[in-house]
Amino acid sequence: MRLTPDEQAMLDGKQGPARQKAMELLVRYGEALGAERLVDTNNVCAGVVGPSPFVQDFASKAGSIDAVFSEFNLDSREVVEIPQVKAFTCSVVDGLEQDHWKIQGVKPEVYELSMRNELFCTRIGVQLTYTCAPYLVGNIPVKGEHCAWMESSAVVFCNSVFGARTNTEGCESTGAAMLTGKIPYWGYHLDENRLGTHLVDVQFDVESLMDWGLLGYYVGEIVQERIPVFNGVRRIPNLSRLKHCGAAAASSGGVEMYHIVGVTPEAHSLEQAFGRRKPVATVQFGNAERREAYEKLNSSAKDSAVDFVVLGCPHYTIEQVWEVCKLLEGKHVHCNTNLWIFTPRGIKNIADQNGYTEIITTAGGVLMTDTCPCLGRVSPKGVKVAATDSAKQAHYLPAIMGFQTWFGSLEECIQAAISGKWEGALK
Ligand code: F3S
Repeated sequence: MRLTPDEQAMLDGKQGPARQKAMELLVRYGEALGAERLVDTNNVCAGVVGPSPFVQDFASKAGSIDAVFSEFNLDSREVVEIPQVKAFTCSVVDGLEQDHWKIQGVKPEVYELSMRNELFCTRIGVQLTYTCAPYLVGNIPVKGEHCAWMESSAVVFCNSVFGARTNTEGCESTGAAMLTGKIPYWGYHLDENRLGTHLVDVQFDVESLMDWGLLGYYVGEIVQERIPVFNGVRRIPNLSRLKHCGAAAASSGGVEMYHIVGVTPEAHSLEQAFGRRKPVATVQFGNAERREAYEKLNSSAKDSAVDFVVLGCPHYTIEQVWEVCKLLEGKHVHCNTNLWIFTPRGIKNIADQNGYTEIITTAGGVLMTDTCPCLGRVSPKGVKVAATDSAKQAHYLPAIMGFQTWFGSLEECIQAAISGKWEGALK
């Protein structure tokens, strides 16, 4: 790999042992991928400690977060002191929320670890965003900007909606990127890897949030890691719909980028989306395909009694919190049901000020931040049946948490929270 003088200096240890370890890791990683060089980045979304029980177990025995960071973010057995980050860095989700860790079923030692980790992050200059949707709280990369982001729903949004450039990075590469301001130049950083591969002929008039989830979910399973180009979309989707569509496609497949002709920044036309290439296949999305995706997402659920309603995957926008409040105000969550809604910390501050948190709390729900059931493995005690408006959460909850899971619209989920029963159906 060709290194600049600045990169070589870091590799030679002239900027301290932590940046040296970081540069060693990036060179190993880049060479394994066939990258010829690194690229500058000033936009990293990273996991420091995070929700992994394995890391948490290591951390509870390690003397310091520097030791955890050395091991898991720099792949170094030698413990090095971690200096201030070079690149602007946001934290992705954690394993708990500090105000609600007890009802989330989190052990006190994991809570303690989270507090120590937060102090560590502030010491080295990592922003305490703790979200899979950093773009909701001020991290909005511009078209063409090179980023190093983790978390599949964030990655697909970054590439597709902003036209910024990132691969799906991990704790190690983002840890190294934040200390060096570098990331291997390969994959989605290169123009030729951003062109569409599959043409999606959207025949159904996709409008609702639920339908955008079904579209993403159906197509993701077919295209897997390749790049779908949605053509025929008649109504411009808003941010929540794009967020849901990408998260769904990244969970049923491994989609890291999509184009919507006439909507996303690298697809003003079909020609631009595909470049000079022809689609490798065409995928239809009509009534039958929409139903197929819906049935697959609901295939784990049998019992109509719902004891857990999960909203906010990916983390909710303030508009979505407001929508919840319009449906929930003056009502009450069923005594056998829990309603948990997830949003970034910054959005919860607005919800607090607007009185939305109080509306949700008065109704018997909880507005939470920083984590989610699938990533944090947090849930109320004794849950058997969940309901959600998120295709991604419906995909993972049965496998990760063992819950039967209903998928439907926000209205159906709120109705289930109030009545304790699932009455949703595909209309
Ligand atoms: Fe975010 Fe958790 Fe969903 S990390 S995308 S809320 S699975």
